[in-house]
Amino acid sequence: MFWGAYRRAAPRSDITFLLAPAAYDAEAGRHWQMPGVGTLFAKSRAKAYSQEAQRPFDCVVHFEIIFRGNTMAIMPNASIHLDAAIPADSEGQEQARLTDEARFADQNYSRHAHNLLLNQIMFRKYADPHHDWDWRQYGAKLLGSVKGCRVLDYGCGQGEEATYLAKMGAQVTAIDISPVGIGLTKARAKLNGVGDRVSAMLMRCDPTEFPSESFDVIHGFGILHHIGLQIGLVEIKRLLRPGGRGLFFEHMGNSKTIERLRPKEKDYTKGERPVTWKEVQEIRPEFSKFLARPFHIASRLRKRVQLLNRPVVKRVDHAILSALPFMRHFASGMVIYLEK
Ligand SMILES: C[S@@+](CC[C@H](N)C(=O)[O-])C[C@H]1O[C@@H](n2cnc3c(N)ncnc32)[C@H](O)[C@@H]1O
Repeated sequence: MFWGAYRRAAPRSDITFLLAPAAYDAEAGRHWQMPGVGTLFAKSRAKAYSQEAQRPFDCVVHFEIIFRGNTMAIMPNASIHLDAAIPADSEGQEQARLTDEARFADQNYSRHAHNLLLNQIMFRKYADPHHDWDWRQYGAKLLGSVKGCRVLDYGCGQGEEATYLAKMGAQVTAIDISPVGIGLTKARAKLNGVGDRVSAMLMRCDPTEFPSESFDVIHGFGILHHIGLQIGLVEIKRLLRPGGRGLFFEHMGNSKTIERLRPKEKDYTKGERPVTWKEVQEIRPEFSKFLARPFHIASRLRKRVQLLNRPVVKRVDHAILSALPFMRHFASGMVIYLEK
């Protein structure tokens, strides 16, 4: 079997297929010289996403493959149906995944609990951005003013960005599943004089409990590759008011070789799945405006090699990615800006 990934909405259904066989059985005839008219029935497991249930499902897709001489047509519409649309994760697995995420975050944030003061350098990147070679400044320039906006900090961690956005005049709602993170978000906002502008709460992002169109702006740093790009963006679209804006900083992983070399156990949770350039492009049409830009080639190692955290390295990375777009295959970061 040849396999291809494609995404499509099945007519008269709320199901979006994320990964399904777009293929035929090569063993049946390499050149498709099948005489006359014939029909091959095939079925395969696929991943689907249900808008209504807002969760992924494993399902079985039935295909009718029709042969006319040496041409072939695949008729998935005619015969797709979901056998046994069981949740991809059982409730137990789902709970274990969330617990693992929260535990990992709690441990990490506990180490930084003593330092709640505003990081002025980082704050200026949001409040007064200039340089496109720095991904935070590039994103902040796209986002523009958040003054007076209802902002959701989606997967807020320990609340640094929630505090920056509140200091810039936003009314921020910050959510995460890490109890330590939420505690620190509240404490940080209070200490930095914006306790009344930041409402932090324990809540999962996939999905949230907020009514549709609750926010003018949604900000997320490193959350979509935890919950899944498709799941996250469906929820974001639901939560934004028409014309609302979204800004996301994500870990990108296009190269399977590089991803295999990452020392996962220490720095990453089991549930993380870096977004790819390809899947982001597939989601683009869902929004009225959608920009994605890759960042960090040499500077992807900046946490391990301090020298690579220098502006000059980021400038060189930016110049390379601007001149040679195919180099994004090796980049580790992506900024997504979108409008509903
Ligand atoms: C890479 S950290 C980023 C945190 C923060 N935005 C920052 O910039 O430091 C990912 C965060 O996502 C949270 N998270 C993971 N899965 C989640 C889920 N399903 N719902 C809500 N938060 C989740 C984790 O607890 C963690 O705080």
